[in-house]
Formats: sequence, structure tokens, C-alpha cells
Amino acid sequence: MKCLVTGVAGFIGSHLAERLLQEGYEVIGLDCFTDFYPRWIKKRNLTFLESKPHFQLVENDLNQINFNEILDGVGFIFHLAAQAGVRTSWGENFSEYVKHNVLATQKLLEAVKGRKIEKFIFASSSSVYGLSSTFPMVENGPVQPISPYGVTKLAAEQLCFLYFKNYNVPIISLRFFTVYGPRQRPDMAFHKFFVAFLKKEIIPVYGDGHQTRDFTYIDDIIEANILALKRGRVGEVYNIGGGHRKELSEVIELMEKITGQKARIRWLDPQKGDVVHTLASIEKAKLDLGYNPRSDLENGLRQQWLWIKQLYE
Ligand SMILES: NC(=O)c1ccc[n+]([C@@H]2O[C@H](COP(=O)([O-])OP(=O)(O)OC[C@H]3O[C@@H](n4cnc5c(N)ncnc54)[C@H](O)[C@@H]3O)[C@@H](O)[C@H]2O)c1
Repeated sequence: MKCLVTGVAGFIGSHLAERLLQEGYEVIGLDCFTDFYPRWIKKRNLTFLESKPHFQLVENDLNQINFNEILDGVGFIFHLAAQAGVRTSWGENFSEYVKHNVLATQKLLEAVKGRKIEKFIFASSSSVYGLSSTFPMVENGPVQPISPYGVTKLAAEQLCFLYFKNYNVPIISLRFFTVYGPRQRPDMAFHKFFVAFLKKEIIPVYGDGHQTRDFTYIDDIIEANILALKRGRVGEVYNIGGGHRKELSEVIELMEKITGQKARIRWLDPQKGDVVHTLASIEKAKLDLGYNPRSDLENGLRQQWLWIKQLYE
């Protein structure tokens, strides 16, 4: 069976494609190498994949591609291609978010409707909740994004749902909660903090350090995608969180332990669009998918630190 992974050169897409190959699937990976972060990092993410005979890389933009090139014989679609990042989604940049997150998703869904696809798994985000009044955040609770990025992810999720309702496209949306681990994007906090440790620089931290996040290790995210492929109910949305909540200041303390260095921090004003606390209710994913996040934060951070050192040294 063939899988299509969009956004394959990215953080999560590259890990997922590797796992799918291990599971015995053939993988077509699509990516247009947006310049949000350097191409060399994305090429590095593909090192393992590009040597594998059952992997094919297609460099193209979802907004431009002739879909017959990539959809023939495909049974499962993992749609991860997106313009990620909350803080950069304001102002003029918003058009890029609309293009890559909303328009590209609609084009893919249009191309898929009427085709025999087993499952279409969409990478949604905890940022759709924003100021949600329920805590922990539950899938059927209110959604109220507070960043333009969150608005585009919610729009894409809603597009998926309406193609399911109207055209039976077998969609499943997974709302990922802050993902970390090797290959994490350079704009994300843990990546930036570890680089600052490596270069012995001051760490800029937005907020007071008491903000909390449900951090999810990359292996758990990948496992959730595989479980969704096997057991997910179409038309449903699942939270995929790490199962615990930590303060950012606790994460920095763990980083100090791992790197053996004292952090020098510059505290900055909170950024617009940043949610102060996130916590996923993962009951639905446990029940339907058998999802059970196993990763321990300290161990996951150690893996990310090893990778950061390899990448930059
Ligand atoms: N990393 C997280 O913590 C997190 C949390 C919630 C949701 N997500 C979602 O997971 C997905 C993957 O995130 P990531 O952190 O791996 O991001 P990433 O930026 O590393 O990967 C996304 C990839 O998509 C590609 N891309 C973007 N637009 C494209 C288009 N129009 N056509 C083809 N390729 C395109 C980019 O070049 C990039 O390589 C995204 O949809 C993101 O919104 C990520």
C-alpha cells in the first residue's frame, strides 16, 4: 500500500515517512522546501529516506502540482505540509499562511474527492483551542484561536470535515500539542534554547516562565499517526498530547541538567498569539486509537540535545 506524506522534509513529516517505510509501506513524499527555515536542514532530515528504494521525493508545491503525479495508487494520505509558527503569522505574512494552510489543503481535498482513499490524516494543532474555556482541552469543546496561524489550522480542519460530510473523503484530524525532539523546527523554543546553550549565549524567553505546555515527544506523535491509520474513526478529531503538563521554567532546569550549564535568561514580554496554558484531554485517543504516550520529558530532551549538537557542531 502506498502512502503520501505532504511536508515530508519537515520535522514531523520526515520522521513519519521513516516509520511508514519500517511498517512496510511505500512512501511518496511531497515538499516544496519553503524558506521558513534553511533548506540544508530539511535536506538533512531526508538523509535516511533518500537512500531507500521505497521512498520517492517529489519537490513541488501543493498549490501548483498536477495531482495525478502523486495520487495514483495512494491509499493513505498524511497531510502535514503547512506554514507553521504562531508568532510569524501576523501582518503581511498572513497571506503565506492562507496559501500553504488553507488554499493548499482545499486543493488537495478537491483532488482526493472521488478517489479510493483509505484514510486522509490531517495534522491539526492545539492552537485551534486558543482561549478555549475548557481545561484540559477536549475535542468537542469550544475552539477560539488567538493567532492567525490557529485560524488557518482551524479553517483547514473544517475544510477536511466538510469534504468528509459532502464527498466521503475519509478524513481524521489529529490536533498535535507542542511537539519536540530531534529535527524540531528552528523557530521552536526548545531548539532555540539548546542552540543558545551550545553557543553559550543568552536565552530569550517570552513570558515569565510559568506558562505551561503539554509537550509531546516526536515518537508519540508518530505512533499516534500510525494508530490513526490503523484504528482511527473517519470524520473524527483527536487530541494528541504528551499526557502531562510542564512549566517552561522546569524545562529550562532540565536543559541545565542535560547540558551541564547554567542558563542565562533574558525575560521578554509575552508574544501576541501565544496561549498561556495548554493541556490535552487524550481520553478519546486512548479509547479509540489505543494511544498511550510513553515518552519522558528528560529523556526526550536528551535526544534533542544530541541532535542539536550534531546539527551545529
Ligand atoms: N511542530 C509542532 O509542534 C506542531 C504542533 C501542532 C501542529 N503541527 C502541524 O504539523 C505539521 C508539520 O509541522 P512541522 O513542525 O513538521 O513543520 P515543518 O515546517 O518542519 O514542516 C512542514 C513542511 O511543509 C512544507 N510545505 C509547506 N507548504 C507546502 C506546500 N504548499 N506544498 C508542499 N510542501 C509545503 C515545508 O517546506 C516544510 O518542509 C504542520 O501542519 C503543523 O501545522 C506541528
